[in-house]
Amino acid sequence: MKTSRLSLTINGARRTIETPPMKRLLDVLREDFQLTGTKEGCGEGECGACSVILDGVLVNSCLVPALHAAGANVRTIEGLSPGGSHPVQAAFARCGGAQCGICTPGMIMASVHLLERNPHPSRLEIQEALAGNLCRCTGYQKIIDAVQAASEGDEIADL
Ligand code: FES
Ligand code: FES
Repeated sequence: MKTSRLSLTINGARRTIETPPMKRLLDVLREDFQLTGTKEGCGEGECGACSVILDGVLVNSCLVPALHAAGANVRTIEGLSPGGSHPVQAAFARCGGAQCGICTPGMIMASVHLLERNPHPSRLEIQEALAGNLCRCTGYQKIIDAVQAASEGDEIADL
């Protein structure tokens, strides 16, 4: 299979690999960089489980070919904090915002993306920001509670 050189920045570190240019960013992250925190749900852009932040934009990494990430800055769940201590991760744990956990990394990346732009969102704004992220377990209320709790913490101002 034809490959090409891909250089990008992942969680602040410059990385280079040889990869098929149409390989999904999701697979590049999970297989080439062992960043398995990013999950695959539907594989079709519907569930948001694979959400990462690409040059400041929340994307479904299952829909992004590797070549579109060339030179880009990618943030994944692993880059938020060592050991899961980011305030949004802590709020999810505290509020019961995670059950099976498949949707959780994507939910957290979507939440971080929101809170970095709008540190004190309304519940409606939280719902709208998470509309592309599906959860089969929690009924969403605890997730929204968690994002709201995180938004009320002083730590968010330092994100
Ligand atoms: S796995 Fe990418 S949107 Fe569902
Ligand atoms: S916690 Fe299971 S899908 Fe959301």
